[in-house]
Amino acid sequence: MKAKTRKTRVAVIGCGVIGPLHLKCYAALPNVEVAAVCDLREERARSAAEQFAAGRWTVESAEVFADPGIDAVSICTDHASHASLACAALAAGKHVLCEKSLARVPADLRRMLAAAAARPELVAAGVFQHRFEPVPNVVRDIIAAGGLGRLLLACGTLLCHRSREYYEGDAWRGTIRGEGGSALINQAIHYFDLLLWMSGGATAVSAFQANLGHEGVIETEDTISVAVRFANGATGAFSTSNAAAQNWSSSLRFVGTKGSVELRDDRLFAVDFPGDPKAAASVEARVGRAVAAAEKTVSHKGKEYYGVGHMAQIEDFVRAIRTGTRPKVTFADAAETDALVFEAYRSAARAASRRRD
Ligand SMILES: NC(=O)c1ccc[n+]([C@@H]2O[C@H](COP(=O)([O-])OP(=O)(O)OC[C@H]3O[C@@H](n4cnc5c(N)ncnc54)[C@H](O)[C@@H]3O)[C@@H](O)[C@H]2O)c1
Repeated sequence: MKAKTRKTRVAVIGCGVIGPLHLKCYAALPNVEVAAVCDLREERARSAAEQFAAGRWTVESAEVFADPGIDAVSICTDHASHASLACAALAAGKHVLCEKSLARVPADLRRMLAAAAARPELVAAGVFQHRFEPVPNVVRDIIAAGGLGRLLLACGTLLCHRSREYYEGDAWRGTIRGEGGSALINQAIHYFDLLLWMSGGATAVSAFQANLGHEGVIETEDTISVAVRFANGATGAFSTSNAAAQNWSSSLRFVGTKGSVELRDDRLFAVDFPGDPKAAASVEARVGRAVAAAEKTVSHKGKEYYGVGHMAQIEDFVRAIRTGTRPKVTFADAAETDALVFEAYRSAARAASRRRD
């Protein structure tokens, strides 16, 4: 049977918090078959197989990679395991969709980029599901077209709350070896990525970090502020804490010489063009039309805590596999943000060691 006429056979590796959402999205697509699920914890693999009618379950990722009937894998495991699993999957000829953060450390990221480059016929995509939402896309287009004038500042925050129980529940969380960091590389990476991507990319960052609400619980940062130099010359800042009282409150503000746009909690919050109400109304109308159009698509059925973008990103991944086209977020695209996360951590570590001197 030809690959394009039969269903695309996928496996999901890692069936903890996010794996089941990937499975739910694949199960909703008529041209996809969930061929296998895999988790080191047998009960999780079994239960996911049952819930999503997977062809089979296993605790051995090597069995997934060795199966010639499997076309693609979603990697939904802890950060430290992404590089080995992704490299093995690509070497075995599987298309890969890997959860954020692609890698835990720069060396892993380089391995993953090399593995993807060695198999250009395969789709290697990184999850940044918020890049599929309508509001960030429209505002990004407006900024790129000079709709705010020259971009001056782009600033963002993400406030969230991660409890002691959250960290004590899974050994990899809150550790350098398992997670690589915490507030920035895990929870806030989505909004840090949007800030960079919507502003047209960044060239340099510097940062300060602290552990203010999880002392004795995690060895990583729970609070960090990053100063950003954007490629177009603008400057900006991103701050986050996962020790906040609020659980999941985001803001992104873009300020140009003509006006500014602010997103709060993924929605358009404020549009301000002093002396030019027509420009403000035009931005509001464009965003409104894009949101209305997106709400009619399958991607937006079943709102999820992690944003509605997973469905759209998984559709995009499957489309790229089936049509031989580029996915919206390649490994190389996602790696640009990862590299700046790593640079922020390096900068914060340097600042901390200077303070100790
Ligand atoms: N995009 C999002 O909004 C979003 C949300 C949550 C988590 N994530 C990301 O998804 C990934 C997983 O996070 P989670 O919260 O689901 O973690 P989790 O700890 O709940 O689940 C991970 C699962 O992977 C399994 N696993 C680990 N190594 C394995 C291996 N080699 N083979 C098979 N199974 C293995 C573990 O047993 C565990 O069940 C992380 O990268 C995280 O940052 C993304």
